[in-house]
Amino acid sequence: MYSVRLRNYFCEVAVAEKPKVLVTRPLFPAARAILDQQFEVEYWTHPERIPRAELLKRVEDKDALVCLLTEKVDEELLSIARKLRLAGTVSVGYDNIDVPACTRHKVVATHTPGVLDETTADFAWTLLMAIARRLVEGDAWMRSGTWPGWDLDQLLGGDVWGKTLGIIGFGRIGRGLARRATGFQMRVIYHDGVRAAAGLETELHAEFADMDTLLRESDFVSLHVPLLPATRHLISSAAFEKMKRTAYLVNTSRGPVVDEAALAEALEQKKIAGAALDVYEQEPKVHPGLVSRKDVILTPHIASATVETRTRMAVMAATNAAALFEGKRPPNALNADALGL
Ligand SMILES: NC(=O)c1ccc[n+]([C@@H]2O[C@H](COP(=O)([O-])OP(=O)(O)OC[C@H]3O[C@@H](n4cnc5c(N)ncnc54)[C@H](O)[C@@H]3O)[C@@H](O)[C@H]2O)c1
Repeated sequence: MYSVRLRNYFCEVAVAEKPKVLVTRPLFPAARAILDQQFEVEYWTHPERIPRAELLKRVEDKDALVCLLTEKVDEELLSIARKLRLAGTVSVGYDNIDVPACTRHKVVATHTPGVLDETTADFAWTLLMAIARRLVEGDAWMRSGTWPGWDLDQLLGGDVWGKTLGIIGFGRIGRGLARRATGFQMRVIYHDGVRAAAGLETELHAEFADMDTLLRESDFVSLHVPLLPATRHLISSAAFEKMKRTAYLVNTSRGPVVDEAALAEALEQKKIAGAALDVYEQEPKVHPGLVSRKDVILTPHIASATVETRTRMAVMAATNAAALFEGKRPPNALNADALGL
């Protein structure tokens, strides 16, 4: 126990003991080292995700919460956790955090931007290649022991090189995907609420397109928008009507950006050639119409899952939490301005 003079954004508080943090996973040693120094830490160490009731019970007396995208930080939690000053998610997407509610409760909300861009873009590229070249089908065939040997028309896919890649959401990760496409001599078109600077378009060989043009002209449509009310079911039956019958959809953003029922129907009616999904509308569930399809690749939300990147994300979340209780502005606060930090 030692005395820390905590200078935060709304008052000066003399704290007689270390602040308390609830961390809903044991994270990684590098992140634990930061937290253990600054806080009295309670880690949720059970193999299953923390049940909501446990989360609400354990967060009640905490000064900070470091959570995953599977935990919701909402009005209910914030009303219970009356001492809470910070809620940090170990993810760049923060649709699990009600940021305006955090601001109302004077809770700093943080996320982990920038450290997972290349890793996530790598994985979107992996999915794009794998669905076009029928990698998973080929692997299953080999393992089944029924492959009769080479033949001319086996598992014909679609070319990647020289095709048109349509990127929806041209932020950090979308731009990373564009960079990967240049080596494959692809034409890159993108749609975003905000048009990129001309210099960046030139550097990435990317053309801005309206949504209709992008859907009609792309051989691959890859999604990189955050989940917002405006992006929920952004890709639904109307979008599949516009896409090429030979086109593939790749989703590494958030599940609800795609209407899964509409996707299953579009595939059944051969309106598009295939889809590769890393995220789902109601994780961990997958729409039953997608599970048995060979023209679909399903991965378990692992686009940022490398040792290096997940460690960087955890360290960033820990650093943000530590910063606030050292009287500094957390580098990745979502509501710093709103709170006057
Ligand atoms: N599958 C995974 O494991 C994984 C990993 C990392 C990120 N993600 C998801 O990817 C998303 C993007 O991450 P990022 O770091 O590139 O974010 P970012 O903020 O850098 O980029 C998002 C882009 O989407 C644009 N956008 C927002 N609303 C739009 C709309 N209605 N129409 C068109 N464009 C719109 C924004 O202007 C921005 O350019 C995250 O929010 C997260 O949900 C998933």
